[in-house]
Amino acid sequence: MCGIVGYVGPRRALDVVVEGLRRLEYRGYDSSGVAVIGADGLQVAKKAGRIENLDKELATRSITGSTAMGHTRWATHGAPNDRNAHPHTDASGRVAVIHNGIIENFGALRAELERDGVELVSETDTETVAHLVAAQLEAQGGSLADALRAVCRRLQGAFTLVLLDAQEPDVVVAARRNSPLVLGVGDGETFLGSDVAAFIEFTREAVELGQNQIVEIRRDGYVITDFDGKPAEGTPFHIDWDLTAAEKGGYEYFMLKEIQEQPAAVRDTLLGHLVSGQIVLDEQRFDQQELRDIDKVFIVACGTAYHAGMIGKQAIEHWTRVPVEVEMASEFRYRDPVLDRQTLVVAISQSGETADTLEAVRHARDQRAKVLAICNTNGAQIPRESDAVIYTHAGPEIGVAATKTFLAQVAAVELLGLALAQARGTKYGDEIIREFDDLCSVPDAIAEVLTVVEPVRALAREIAQSKTILFLGRHVGYPVALEGALKLKELAYMHAEGFPAGELKHGPIALIEEGLPVVVVMPSPTGRPLLHQKMLSNVAEIKARGARTIVISEADDSAARNLAAHFIAVPSVPTLLSPFVTTVPLQVLAAEIAQARGCDVDKPRNLAKSVTVE
Ligand code: M6R
Repeated sequence: MCGIVGYVGPRRALDVVVEGLRRLEYRGYDSSGVAVIGADGLQVAKKAGRIENLDKELATRSITGSTAMGHTRWATHGAPNDRNAHPHTDASGRVAVIHNGIIENFGALRAELERDGVELVSETDTETVAHLVAAQLEAQGGSLADALRAVCRRLQGAFTLVLLDAQEPDVVVAARRNSPLVLGVGDGETFLGSDVAAFIEFTREAVELGQNQIVEIRRDGYVITDFDGKPAEGTPFHIDWDLTAAEKGGYEYFMLKEIQEQPAAVRDTLLGHLVSGQIVLDEQRFDQQELRDIDKVFIVACGTAYHAGMIGKQAIEHWTRVPVEVEMASEFRYRDPVLDRQTLVVAISQSGETADTLEAVRHARDQRAKVLAICNTNGAQIPRESDAVIYTHAGPEIGVAATKTFLAQVAAVELLGLALAQARGTKYGDEIIREFDDLCSVPDAIAEVLTVVEPVRALAREIAQSKTILFLGRHVGYPVALEGALKLKELAYMHAEGFPAGELKHGPIALIEEGLPVVVVMPSPTGRPLLHQKMLSNVAEIKARGARTIVISEADDSAARNLAAHFIAVPSVPTLLSPFVTTVPLQVLAAEIAQARGCDVDKPRNLAKSVTVE
């Protein structure tokens, strides 16, 4: 949440940070702003709304300099207007600050500043930092980094803070606690970003900052210390994707490109995980005996990742006979779950930053449970704090709505199921290899679905003005139904609900009325014949009440086809793999409905890609 960019170097710093902000805009788009130090001192420009508004403002100003920072906001404290946009400055305009996170004790700090006669102009928690740092500089002298260190020791909550001081024109100073921050190390120039997309155009050499650290960047490098001023180190890494991965490549929206990239996302996620007939994880910090001793699994995740967890539950329980509970990460630690050394907690998170999931991980570790992360972002906080990791190699996902990372998460959690089955001996080695081979055939099946989704687009345009759409599924089809409904809500701002089809008769069937579109995700007629039969009855029940049935099933499922007003055929794959093919038409449906309704597919209102606040 909130995107942050910083730069010191020979280029026109304003251009570097504005370009970085464009690449980080998916992290929040309530407002954007920049601060630059140049011949005219420290200058600030900021505007509510998308970056285009900032562009217009900048076109009326002449701002030059080689030290700068920029911010794109997802509002927490204070409405998304010009006044609350970052950067914020102290009263004299000497110090400017941008921030990602929440300063939880800002009320007390604000009251203290007001008692001292400081007039705050915004409603944000961030502005307090500008005044506190300026007061510290005034009272104690020293450098901007010294002042920031002193202030950070007083702050509670989560923050990435980046500051400029008009009196130190060649340095940008940043602090990090529980919010992301990476450095980009170039030749005679240094960058800061919430993630590497901010500077990937200029350098592939990056350094991940640790917790409670301060960094000073200059043209010739950087210095990291902790909040007490002791020397500290970050974690250097090489960025292994290039700029084209973060560009639209001719598509109108990133999401449309990312839907097409799903076969590769799943293929790359599986790559290298079967070595000499054995399933291997990416990072493994517990031993085989510990895996064998696990007697209970919790999967914790949010949103789309939670749906991936629901599918994973079916696979893990089926292959290992170990009970699995799937929990919304935001609920997990607050309900005091029963955890011990024999519990495995699986945290699924595309970003690896989601605050709810991170706190669930910390709670699990406090209780001595083992934690395995499934994550798309190398070196992010959640994998760093976990005992083992499976990375989803989906590449950067810029569209706020998760698509390719969802299918990659499903692949990774099923991989984990096989790894557990292997360690526990609940499947023979050759069975595991067969299941893995089935998984490896999934990318071709997804590619096949992608070639036949055109009728889904036409259907989407027909039903785009419906007041609601319901989604039904059973078994692994239920989380797919939930995912279809979530995509529609977030992209098209349309009311949508997903239900387990058998539950319909216990209440929700009252919603059915003439012409209401109901999307049904069918179980395989051969894989789950009994469930298929029950589902046919459920479809008949809603059809009898006037529903417009949109049925997704295998091409030769003639019984389902007969009940469908619209039939969407998908290839036949083993039951546990069916979400890979049934999800794709639902993503296309939601994206197309959103476009028909004039919504911004990549940047839905009120949302941000990485949710770094609880
Ligand atoms: O980065 P994470 O996977 O932890 O994010 C979890 C959710 O915020 C995310 O999946 C969200 O639900 C997506 N916008 C859904 O498309």
